[in-house]
Amino acid sequence: MPKKVLIQLDCDPQPSTFDAIVAVDAGADVLLRHGGVTAENVVPLVHGGMFTRGGGDLASTAIFVGGSDVAAAEAVAAKIRSTFFGPVRLGVLVDPSGANTTAAAAVVAAGRHVPLAAGAAAPCRAVVLGGTGPVGQRVARLLAGKGTHVAVVSRSRERAEAVTRQLIDAKGVSAANLQAVEHHGGFRADSGFARVLAAADVIVAAGAAGATLLDSAGRLAAANARVFIDLNAVPPSGIEGVSAGDKARADGQAVVYGALGVGGTKMKIHKAALARIFSATDAFLDAEDLLAIGEGLEAARRSMDSP
Ligand SMILES: NC(=O)c1ccc[n+]([C@@H]2O[C@H](COP(=O)([O-])OP(=O)(O)OC[C@H]3O[C@@H](n4cnc5c(N)ncnc54)[C@H](OP(=O)(O)O)[C@@H]3O)[C@@H](O)[C@H]2O)c1
Repeated sequence: MPKKVLIQLDCDPQPSTFDAIVAVDAGADVLLRHGGVTAENVVPLVHGGMFTRGGGDLASTAIFVGGSDVAAAEAVAAKIRSTFFGPVRLGVLVDPSGANTTAAAAVVAAGRHVPLAAGAAAPCRAVVLGGTGPVGQRVARLLAGKGTHVAVVSRSRERAEAVTRQLIDAKGVSAANLQAVEHHGGFRADSGFARVLAAADVIVAAGAAGATLLDSAGRLAAANARVFIDLNAVPPSGIEGVSAGDKARADGQAVVYGALGVGGTKMKIHKAALARIFSATDAFLDAEDLLAIGEGLEAARRSMDSP
């Protein structure tokens, strides 16, 4: 069996040490780490992986695409996809800024407590605070993809609308299932934001590190919400009263998760995804695939727990 070689392609000048360590922990024997990768210079790096091993041995080479500039990483991923041909391809995991694994883990956490899929008696309603960032956009995309009604909240109506438009145009989400909401912080009981909170079943805060997006008055207004998830690990919390370590902590009629409470699931998804790209050369794992992996892990966990 040839050694498992992971080609780590990072758009930042220095490839992420976090992504490298997770790869080693997930079983990669050798890491080839490249920084400063762009859609213009990636092809020779991909060819090097495609043409060195043949037949079944090709599955022992895989590619990870990362970096903090999500748009640049997605352009690299698109270039890699178009470089493959026929059976000459490698398993690929795309997770810039950890946005795909984090969003998938947040949706798995929400789905433990509320039916997210279309077909439930009343469609689930979710609010994504900070919904314009890399993580928030993907949370919105994954929830909408399951049939949940999603309110994308931003300090700018234009930015929120750009996200909902993108979901409609690129992902085929029905406009009826999306709402763009402008909110500038603080809370007013007579605002549109208050009405959106009052109707919510799930609230996910995906705002920038250290920014509080939902204060205690906002939490009270979200009286029907059954799940609050705060993905910000840097104090103060993104949702007042939620601690980073909270993991399905009961709080009134809701459960709350903090960033570390979701982080364990994120890590499991990341490692399982790395295992997948070393077993299937046709695996090209994006946010939706990572959610499917997370849901599979969740189903396995539940069946282990059941008597
Ligand atoms: N748990 C994990 O493993 C993990 C992994 C990755 C990321 N994270 C966390 O997930 C969160 C989202 O990550 P990200 O990279 O998507 O975040 P980001 O791009 O830094 O920010 C997300 C959004 O927050 C809004 N925002 C920025 N500054 C704000 C402020 N001062 N007040 C209110 N809103 C503000 C912006 O939206 P508008 O300008 O449109 O309002 C921005 O698009 C972060 O807290 C990050 O640390 C966690």
